[in-house]
Amino acid sequence: MNSYKTFEMRTAIHFGEGALGRLKELPYNRILIITDPYIAKSEMLNLITDPLKAGGKEFDVFSDVVPDAPVGKIADGVAKFLQYQPEAIVAVGGGSAMDSSKAIREFALKINNYGKVGLIAIPTTSGTGSEVTSFAVVNDTDAHVKYPLVADSLTADEAILDAELVRSVPPAVTADTGMDVFTHALESYVSTAHNEFSAALAEKAVEICGVFLLRCYLDGNDMHARQKMHVASCLAGLSFNTAGLGITHSMAHQLGAVFHVPHGRANAMLLPHVVEFNANINKRSRSQKEYLPAVKRYSNIAHILGLSSYNKVMSVNSLVNWIQFMLKEMNIPMSIQDLGTVTPDKYFGAIDRMADAALADACTANNPRIPTKEDIIEIYTKLWDC
Ligand SMILES: NC(=O)c1ccc[n+]([C@@H]2O[C@H](COP(=O)([O-])OP(=O)(O)OC[C@H]3O[C@@H](n4cnc5c(N)ncnc54)[C@H](O)[C@@H]3O)[C@@H](O)[C@H]2O)c1
Ligand SMILES: [Fe+2]
Repeated sequence: MNSYKTFEMRTAIHFGEGALGRLKELPYNRILIITDPYIAKSEMLNLITDPLKAGGKEFDVFSDVVPDAPVGKIADGVAKFLQYQPEAIVAVGGGSAMDSSKAIREFALKINNYGKVGLIAIPTTSGTGSEVTSFAVVNDTDAHVKYPLVADSLTADEAILDAELVRSVPPAVTADTGMDVFTHALESYVSTAHNEFSAALAEKAVEICGVFLLRCYLDGNDMHARQKMHVASCLAGLSFNTAGLGITHSMAHQLGAVFHVPHGRANAMLLPHVVEFNANINKRSRSQKEYLPAVKRYSNIAHILGLSSYNKVMSVNSLVNWIQFMLKEMNIPMSIQDLGTVTPDKYFGAIDRMADAALADACTANNPRIPTKEDIIEIYTKLWDC
């Protein structure tokens, strides 16, 4: 039996100053821009439409994207797509706009396949890496479950990285999305499907987060830091696209679907607990004769971040401390109780259902330690008032 792996990059990445000029040269003439209402009303949209006009392209705008890509809004987008019949979609926004666009193209072409339709993804947050991944996370609002759809056909043909589009991201969103980048890098680094290619990409993304994420949070106009984090987001996306993620994401998807906790924030809050679970190490641990496989890899990450590496237990604990320090510095709540938006009755009443959905989530398969339902319930329970 062959057990070889394939590392493939399906998306051409245009980056650096003037990258949006690529829009002038696109090999498509009829373009549907898909974005959210905030971006549609802002000056930012001119940065997209000006080069399209200069290139003589026809375009229309669907600006009805809402956070977390609910299926109802995707259906509206499919209707718009079928009515306008574009040659390509230009997705402009955070993960919600890019994931909605991926799902809209996928479903519309299943209904009416009239040939290839291009997808150009232009992120306006430094977070999801969706511009280069074959994932689209959609939200079944009736069932209160978020599903990652995974298919090569979802992948964008081109990505354009221009940090100017991220300048206006407010500090709280910079914090949440930046921790999403870090979580992608860390989960893909310890995933059971990690490989040398994914590891190289994740290591660079971690190094950039360690130096530049707080700088972006403290000064959104620090364009050097913004540019670095924009690239880190894409690197981490490429990494998890080949190596997968883990239960931080599986569990965060449920907190997003049931309690509308922003995606990156849910990851950031869960991550210290998942590191402790995957390593089977916590603040009370002593050194051990043998360690779980993730421990060595967490130690490498601690080393890249410049944290102490006296021994493995201390390395894992310093990584957990670093994550919790980042949460505090960027005013991300540590617990569900601290969010102030969820009652204990509602939270504890939802845990059993969230645990089932998290176990069934596509991201769980690559977690370095196989969780039981009780393990997931324990982590959700700790998260209430840690
Ligand atoms: N496809 C993937 O590979 C992947 C990976 C991780 C997460 N996701 C999904 O992506 C979604 C989250 O995406 P996100 O974190 O980018 O958030 P988002 O797209 O929901 O945007 C968050 C908020 O930031 C605003 N915003 C976006 N760009 C802005 C800008 N330049 N200036 C000011 N405000 C701006 C948006 O209007 C929105 O209110 C979730 O549904 C998550 O599950 C997808
Ligand atoms: Fe994510």
